[in-house]
Amino acid sequence: MFFNKFPHPSNFVYANGFNPAANSFKAGKRDFQTKLSSFETGVHHVRVSHSDWGENRAIHPLTPPPPCDCSPVKAGENFELSFRHGGEEILKTAGASSFGVCGTAWMFRFEVQPGTRFYGMGEKNFGRLELSGIRTKFWNTDVWGDFHYSQFKDHTCDPPYLSIPYVILKQGETFVGILLDTPATTFIETPGLDTERVFEAWQTTTPELVVGAECGEANLWVIVGPTLKELTRKLQHLVGHTPLPPIWALGYHQSRWGYAGQEDLLKLDEEFRKHEIPCDSLWLDIDYMEGFRVFTVDEKHFPEGLKATSDLLAKNNRKLVAILDPGVKREKGFEVYDDLKAKNLHCVNPEGEEYVGMVWPGETIFPDLTLEPARKWWAGYVKKMAQDGLSAVWIDMNDPSTGPVDPKGMLFRHGRDRHEEHRNQYALGMQIASRDGFLKADSNSRPFILSRSGSTGSAKYSAIWTGDNLSNYFYLKICIPTTLNLSLSGVCFNGPDVGGFGDTATETLMLDWIKACFLFPFMRNHSSKETGDQEPWQYSEEGVKIISKFVRLRYKFLPYIYNLFIEHEKTGDPILRPLMYEIDSAMQVPLEDVADQFFVGPSILQAPIIDAEHRTREVILPGETAWFSASRGRWIEAGTSDVAPADSETPLFFKAGAIVPLRPGTPTDVLVDLRNIDLLICAHKGSRGSSFYHYVADDGRSFDYKNGVRSEISVKVEWDGDEVKVNVEEVATGFGSIRARLIFVDGFERVLVKGARVETKVEELELTGAPFAVYVTM
Ligand code: NOJ
Repeated sequence: MFFNKFPHPSNFVYANGFNPAANSFKAGKRDFQTKLSSFETGVHHVRVSHSDWGENRAIHPLTPPPPCDCSPVKAGENFELSFRHGGEEILKTAGASSFGVCGTAWMFRFEVQPGTRFYGMGEKNFGRLELSGIRTKFWNTDVWGDFHYSQFKDHTCDPPYLSIPYVILKQGETFVGILLDTPATTFIETPGLDTERVFEAWQTTTPELVVGAECGEANLWVIVGPTLKELTRKLQHLVGHTPLPPIWALGYHQSRWGYAGQEDLLKLDEEFRKHEIPCDSLWLDIDYMEGFRVFTVDEKHFPEGLKATSDLLAKNNRKLVAILDPGVKREKGFEVYDDLKAKNLHCVNPEGEEYVGMVWPGETIFPDLTLEPARKWWAGYVKKMAQDGLSAVWIDMNDPSTGPVDPKGMLFRHGRDRHEEHRNQYALGMQIASRDGFLKADSNSRPFILSRSGSTGSAKYSAIWTGDNLSNYFYLKICIPTTLNLSLSGVCFNGPDVGGFGDTATETLMLDWIKACFLFPFMRNHSSKETGDQEPWQYSEEGVKIISKFVRLRYKFLPYIYNLFIEHEKTGDPILRPLMYEIDSAMQVPLEDVADQFFVGPSILQAPIIDAEHRTREVILPGETAWFSASRGRWIEAGTSDVAPADSETPLFFKAGAIVPLRPGTPTDVLVDLRNIDLLICAHKGSRGSSFYHYVADDGRSFDYKNGVRSEISVKVEWDGDEVKVNVEEVATGFGSIRARLIFVDGFERVLVKGARVETKVEELELTGAPFAVYVTM
């Protein structure tokens, strides 16, 4: 497998003689079948098949909107495709070289309007949000296994762990998405000049956008926004939403390669209690197993079994999570191995024998998780682990990593299918099966799975962490655009190893990482073995204070974050969003490349310090109205300004009119009662405006909310000069009534709640900086 070699368009023969009546065309000596479909809301599908290619092998079915008869996708004589929206052509392929084939490979080539910008592409961590001038392969990779330390230490390695061959085109103010629905190895080439890679003109990428695959049926989806928000919602509908996680999954998590048993965990439990730092779960890495055998627990570390430990942790409301790797130790007499062999559900080599890779336990074989019976088999073991006390699993090495062994010898479906036809969905199979295992253990408990690798559709089953990073500023910096592009590619529940996995984090770096990521969708502190300790209390007194402050703040903001996930399940909006997602960039300084600021939901804008040397930075406050600074406790005019936060602060801004639900007080534990909240209201005294918010509370753990066990309020705020009016309506009370205190950031002369004048009292609120005065209804 060559990561940096790509099919070249000149080696392809191109479609011609398209016959719409027969739905076929010719390319070279072969005939191909086609199917063009358009769906409501600007979603289009193009399928090209050939009997030698077989069916689409994707195990995760996409869910398009209802079909429409209007056929806005059309093909010409050379199968040149034209996509129309609102009467206008929005995208077209490149004339006589629109669709090419070369052996089993195929490619679509699109004409690109001058000035087009590119985004998305899943996890590609090139360190920027905008992705022009890139030639990239989609092949789920074990980065540390396949690259040398000197390469990944402080540099992008491509391809990473997760593959979503989806590219967003921004053409003026119109956004279009192109998705390849295939588990096969794919590639994308975007026009533009990547000066870091190109030193000879012929190395530049082609002037067209190229998307293709090395094998398998061609399934192309084109989605028309026209806005980025509409596009992302449509994509998410097509690939599947992230189901509402249990609220504990949104808390702070503590992990380390090295925590092995009950003793380690109880120590951690005690430290978190002592320092009054909320922490929802403690994570076990591979050392808890017996000789790294999957689905075993080492008695030496857990003399009374996992359940006894998880029961002890549960007393302090902490959950236990453990790692699972797909490789099964090749050892006769090991029950899991014997069982897998007996059921004949493992991957085979070209000789029809078990395919053997080298992972932690030494020689390993692999369940073929593209097969439904193998997924059932896996789910059965996961169910048992759940019953034995695990609240979640993190599934690792599922790229799949085979160590130094060439993975191409790993065949799927009893040897019928080549490795590259399925590789990118191996992790997806593991995600589906692991989620299923938890549902089998308890059908009314929302599962939480975290996975390293993944592909299109993964977000429906599992959250993603962005793999092995290092404790340095390069990785801190790139985690923002990586998370944003993942979010735009349909994976909203994701985050990096906070603090960095490899090497040792200095105190300043750790604090910067915590402050940058304290509102990320997923927040886990994880580090590798033989690195410096990274738990919150390992730092100076001042450092511990700052880390505690921001972890507690995460818990304070949890009602807001949780409601973003509720919204996501309905609309598809991601949790973290680039600036252009929320702000119409036509009226702004260009926002399209901003990779060091982000929105958390629609109301919060963060601009953290992510540079070792530059401790002041420029912040763009977009739009026309002032923003409320959570660290300064005052309004700041829109535009650009410099900020110089102290070590204990991070720049965070509320949009004017923001209504943000908060947990009252300073949380020091994980017990969130979503029915008891403060509503922070950022109405700007002296101006005029209105805003609206819908808040939802449920039990945070079960599916009962689907049967009405949920409470909802709608909040309307109108302000004008010295007066503010608030109306809170009860919309649903299935989970009991919601008590909401109102907290105004400005002291209005007249405060009317449901038409009646109320008094407010002054209190102090400390968010991401020094405490400031707020005005609270009594
Ligand atoms: C690789 C994973 O990416 C990392 O998080 C984990 O600690 C190691 N495997 C050991 O299991």
